[in-house]
Amino acid sequence: MKAVAYSIKPFEKEYLAKANQKKHDITLISNPLGPDTVIYAEGKDAVIVFTNDDVSATVIEKLAALGVKFIVTRSAGTDHIDKDAAAIYGIKVANVPSYSPQAIAEHSVAMAFALNRQVVKADQHSHEFDFRNDGLIGFNFSGKVVGLIGLGNTGQAAASIYHGLGCQVIGYDPYFPKNLRYVKPASLENLLSTADIISLHIPLTPDTKHFVQKATLDQMKNGVMLINTSRGMLVNTVDVLKAIESKKIGYLGLDVYEFEKGLFFEDHKNDPVKDSLLKSLMSYPNVLITPHQAYLTKEALQEIADQTIKSLDLWQLNKCVGKACACAQECKKNPTTEKVIHS
Ligand code: NAI
Repeated sequence: MKAVAYSIKPFEKEYLAKANQKKHDITLISNPLGPDTVIYAEGKDAVIVFTNDDVSATVIEKLAALGVKFIVTRSAGTDHIDKDAAAIYGIKVANVPSYSPQAIAEHSVAMAFALNRQVVKADQHSHEFDFRNDGLIGFNFSGKVVGLIGLGNTGQAAASIYHGLGCQVIGYDPYFPKNLRYVKPASLENLLSTADIISLHIPLTPDTKHFVQKATLDQMKNGVMLINTSRGMLVNTVDVLKAIESKKIGYLGLDVYEFEKGLFFEDHKNDPVKDSLLKSLMSYPNVLITPHQAYLTKEALQEIADQTIKSLDLWQLNKCVGKACACAQECKKNPTTEKVIHS
């Protein structure tokens, strides 16, 4: 199969090469997919994309006109792809549904730890040979209430880590998994009002956009810790900034940012004008920003590459990609866990 992979970062190449073993003819380019770069897909059967690529209806129409039949994203989230538009043009879509939930969960907990024990500030001070302990007081995780919103792959991985730390783990998910150890089901209201640490593990959909906004923030405990490693648009960042200013939020960890498209994954050090909302957030010492790197472990990168190539292999054989299918009609979805509506 002939394919073009967009938004390729240098460190991804060895993992893709190892997975591909020269089976498919893949052109690797660093440019993101968009109206100006769609032309690179001419003559290709498939495009391989990432989270900040523009896979909107307009771009999909152009891909279809160029003869592209398949879109595979090197991510679990598919919110950047207009799947309805792909269905209209008969283009199949695949993702990497669960490449390494531990990678994302571990990063979310790392952010929580770093915020609590002020690791970044302490390290900066130490590098300046200022070894005072002033201003570095944290709290014990043991005994704290951790509220996980979304209990799919990453939420469950986070649950087992927090459980191991001696936290009281509660969770909200309309499809609360059966037989989930460590997590006590909670209503959203109960979770928001009782959790000391709230961590988001839900996909971005039209229903979950701005899941965290003023009304939700108002229900949270004063000084709450909020961690988002899922998608930036799950939170209304302006409301969150106000909550930082008012000290409603005591600690904020964001691996994803509402306006990260065109910003994250690139070096913008020398931009004359920088994103003012992000700058305002970063002016607070109790805010930790990482550049959408929760997925970034060796194991996860290999798993992403392997599953991406596997989808191309299966499509080439005219077979369905099974759980990796992200087509609008969910044509081949075969859920492994029975999902139960939880009140
Ligand atoms: P998943 O599909 O396994 O689980 C998502 C869970 O959220 C499901 O159990 C679903 O029932 C639940 N859910 C959906 N809407 C909800 C709502 N309104 N309230 C409460 N629960 C709701 O997904 P997974 O693997 O856990 O990943 C979650 C998200 O994390 C992905 O969609 C992706 O956007 C993001 N992600 C971020 C990465 C990063 O590097 N920062 C890497 C991988 C994923």
